[in-house]
Amino acid sequence: MEKRMITTDVTEEDIRIESGLRPASLSEYIGQDKIKNTLRIFIEAARQRKDTLDHVLLYGPPGLGKTTLACIIANEMDVGIKITSGPAIEKPGEIAAILNNLSPGDVLFIDEIHRLNRQVEEVLYPAMEDFAIDIMIGKGSAARSIRLDLPRFTLIGATTRAGLLTAPLRDRFGVVQHMDFYTERELQAILLRSAQVLDVQIDTRGALEIARRSRGTPRLANRMLKRVRDYAQVRYQGMITSDIAREALDLLEVDRYGLDRVDRLILETIAVKFGGGPVGLDTLSAAIGEDSGTIEDVYEPFLIKNGFINRTPKGRVVTQHAMEHLGL
Ligand code: ADE
Repeated sequence: MEKRMITTDVTEEDIRIESGLRPASLSEYIGQDKIKNTLRIFIEAARQRKDTLDHVLLYGPPGLGKTTLACIIANEMDVGIKITSGPAIEKPGEIAAILNNLSPGDVLFIDEIHRLNRQVEEVLYPAMEDFAIDIMIGKGSAARSIRLDLPRFTLIGATTRAGLLTAPLRDRFGVVQHMDFYTERELQAILLRSAQVLDVQIDTRGALEIARRSRGTPRLANRMLKRVRDYAQVRYQGMITSDIAREALDLLEVDRYGLDRVDRLILETIAVKFGGGPVGLDTLSAAIGEDSGTIEDVYEPFLIKNGFINRTPKGRVVTQHAMEHLGL
């Protein structure tokens, strides 16, 4: 199976902002109501049985709060969490060591779990199913395998699309939840909460303006909040209103639908270079010089969801809505 590299441009600043703004409980977490309600039940049931929570797979576009949810699950279960990612674990011995060092009940969060290599993934199968790993000792004809029991744990895996996982791995998750883009109102509430935490002055209409342009994604909303705050501080008296937010975001080349330079480049390329499409993903990727996995997982979901492009068996096509938005 193909495993691609996704570049989501997560900066150190994003990580710093996010860890400071992260809600600590399900009740503080805004949006994703379906997932929250489902998790609440499973968490309560596991707690009543004094058992660990079943393994959870979270999938959806980047920046929607998969890591945040994993931390909240650990908090609500009152257990520790160890955070790692698919590409960070290179050898079977490394995952074996991570698993062996967990305390009973702990959450192990693996981000970009679709990027685990095959040998590492195979260690996870018995670990997830039987809480045990098989270790080879000795060499040649003396080699034998011994089974090592692990503490019971909850694996939380995160990926941009469930389809990127191998079937045996996907099948071992008891809870599979899709994260969808946030509504403008939810993002507005997130921004008002973030502004309070960061001590930024913003009115409700200012928050709504930023929310509208955040592509349904809290990470982008919080990133923009900081940039708009800088603008408001230098140009004005610091208070973010809708006019100031609009001015600042125009300067950042984020348009009124939240499309940025790359989104518009994708639409313009399909519209102009390829006569509106259909065009294949790899051709498009070569034409604009952006990784095809990044186009598919980062840019496309939002463009499709908002009616700017359609996926057809022959490739991507731009819609009338996109043509009008581009002024073509
Ligand atoms: N900050 C980022 N995402 C959030 C969310 N879903 N709820 C509250 N605060 C957040």
